[in-house]
Amino acid sequence: MRYFDSHCHLNDEAVLERIDEEISLCREAGITAMICIGYDVASSRQAVALAERYDEIYAAVGVHPENIEGLTLDCLNEIKSLAIHPKVVAIGEIGLDYYWYRDPAVREAQKPWFVAQIKFANEIGLPVSIHAREATQDTYEILKENSVNAGAVLHCYSGSKEMMDQFLKLGLYFGFDGPITYKNAVTPKECVKHCPIDRLLVETDSPYLSPVPFRGKPNSPKNIPIIVEEMAKLREIDAEKMNSELWNNFSRLFRVKQ
Ligand code: NI
Repeated sequence: MRYFDSHCHLNDEAVLERIDEEISLCREAGITAMICIGYDVASSRQAVALAERYDEIYAAVGVHPENIEGLTLDCLNEIKSLAIHPKVVAIGEIGLDYYWYRDPAVREAQKPWFVAQIKFANEIGLPVSIHAREATQDTYEILKENSVNAGAVLHCYSGSKEMMDQFLKLGLYFGFDGPITYKNAVTPKECVKHCPIDRLLVETDSPYLSPVPFRGKPNSPKNIPIIVEEMAKLREIDAEKMNSELWNNFSRLFRVKQ
């Protein structure tokens, strides 16, 4: 079987040091498409450089809510100029992170950058990859006010089934990662079962969030088959069928044809 990873960070410094080895391991595992996600200007630039170098890598460019300190309009303009590259398939990851930021003023400051990047994605007709950590309700409010015209995925979805129903009304997709293989991940497992099959995506968020049995070790897109297997188990269908449904969703949202 061949697989995709809709959210990974091959642009992470530790991964970059051994990128050729990493890509050959992914090839051996049958991973034929990977979206390397930017989180600031430098990592977005790196994502595009990797996409130029390797056929199976696509890029997303954007500024993560953790990296908005000191952000300027010039930075956003650089993201815009990167986004016109033919292998850039999304704007991301962008969104809200309340886990690391308790100060209401800092939380508030994340919002205009999120909105600005959504508007920009709409202008150029790209979908959006969204990071929402402990900020589900505010993310929903922003998306309700600012529609994502070319679609969006809530990457590493960590909300409830009830919130999923709300996001579904906005036409969103939901990305699931290694944590669905953890015994105590009750809600994510429920969400995988609850989600309409045409809205599911699989991703690693590597080098983070390794699935069992690699929990605690650096993650890699080569672990995607483990996550697909778990999704198939949760949905009580065979892995091949699960994988082909996931491919349909991936191609539809990111317009990557394989
Ligand atoms: Ni990420």
